[in-house]
Amino acid sequence: MKPESRIQLSAAHREVLQRRRSAFMDAISNGIAFLPSAKPNLGPAGDRATFRQDSDFLYLTGCQETPSLAVFIPQHPQHRTVLFVRERDSFSELWNGPMLGVADARDTLGFDLVLPLSEFEKKIPEWMAFADTIYWDTSPEQEFYEQLRPLLQGSRLRRNGAEILNVRDVVHELRLFKDELEIESLRVANAIASRAHEMAMRFVQPGDYEYQVQAVLEAVMRGAGSTQLGYPSIVAGGANACCLHYNLNSCQIAQGELLLIDAGCEWSFYTADITRTFPVSGRFSSEQKELYELVLLSQQKSIESIRPGAKLSELNDFAGRILADGLIQLGILQCSLDEALEKKKHKDFFPHSLGHWLGLDVHDVGRYRIKNIERTLEPGMCVTIEPGLYVQPSQANVDARWHGIGIRIEDNILVTAQGSVNLTPCVKGVDELQSIVGTCSQEIRGLFRP
Ligand code: GLY
Ligand code: MN
Ligand code: MN
Repeated sequence: MKPESRIQLSAAHREVLQRRRSAFMDAISNGIAFLPSAKPNLGPAGDRATFRQDSDFLYLTGCQETPSLAVFIPQHPQHRTVLFVRERDSFSELWNGPMLGVADARDTLGFDLVLPLSEFEKKIPEWMAFADTIYWDTSPEQEFYEQLRPLLQGSRLRRNGAEILNVRDVVHELRLFKDELEIESLRVANAIASRAHEMAMRFVQPGDYEYQVQAVLEAVMRGAGSTQLGYPSIVAGGANACCLHYNLNSCQIAQGELLLIDAGCEWSFYTADITRTFPVSGRFSSEQKELYELVLLSQQKSIESIRPGAKLSELNDFAGRILADGLIQLGILQCSLDEALEKKKHKDFFPHSLGHWLGLDVHDVGRYRIKNIERTLEPGMCVTIEPGLYVQPSQANVDARWHGIGIRIEDNILVTAQGSVNLTPCVKGVDELQSIVGTCSQEIRGLFRP
């Protein structure tokens, strides 16, 4: 699979986009929908800071131009899908690279009609006749919608009190179910990110700084063709792992500590979200190993329970029960299992939930509940499974030998008709971790030293 191009799409990609647009138009039936690109990202001196297209827009258009606007009119006899883009402009191309422009966008992206952005105010009023519902996003920060508002309000449709619904709700429901192109991208993102995690394991030695390990990890991701991280990398030595969103990555890692890395990169805009925890000296202490094996057991059992019809809350409870039981066996919790579960005592050590949807965004879109009823897992959904245990250094009533141990193990799982497929091919067994840590050559280590 090639890295994404800003102005070229494969025929297979175009076909998938057509299928997504058809599904979207079936969902809005007699409506008209407006979906804008992300705004251009201008840095302080007018330079273009890193630009990431809006995920909903990308999902339906494949278009990386900004600013642009997609309009979907399923009942229009001639053009059901319309894209407004900027016209090519040699000054902008000199500074920012090639643009798609009006002429190329039609063939490249497969829209029925592509027009210059400057025409949208003129065209939109006439299309209102083909719709009885308006889909847009009323979020106030969208400039496009500010420009659209008077057009919509002046339209016959609005005068007749047409319903306005949120366009993003419709796209998000589609995005929850991954098609083959998305699954392939998630697979590649996972393959690269797993390799990067394993390189970080090979690299690390006691005395390294967290940022050195971050540099190695992110070099592998970028070197494999990933254009962006899915989220800021967490590289947390020792007790830093007990801070869930730690990402200063500035401390020295001491002999005997664990290193927790939560990092993932994008491939074609889909991100991996992987966490591994391992001993920097190549051997778990007995306390570290006991807690690690408990987290690993809860993760493996939760993954085995994934199938269509299961609910995330049930998996959460199931993993929580395994962790609570283990914490009691280890003497960290001193109560019965029933009491631990009833009073949620294990949540002192496992304060987050078991997982979340994953896709174009790390905490991907899609409702977890519909009309206040939890939805069940279905084939095509992609979810993270990431149990963890964190014993804060200050945790009262817990023997000090457990203090400052923070462990999380996170894989990315695709729900299938048969059960699930684990997309994350990164080592996580105790023996495998112990044998990989610190095995990289001194020559490579030398590149990441001051
Ligand atoms: N990396 C963010 C998360 O695990 O949810
Ligand atoms: Mn996650
Ligand atoms: Mn994560």
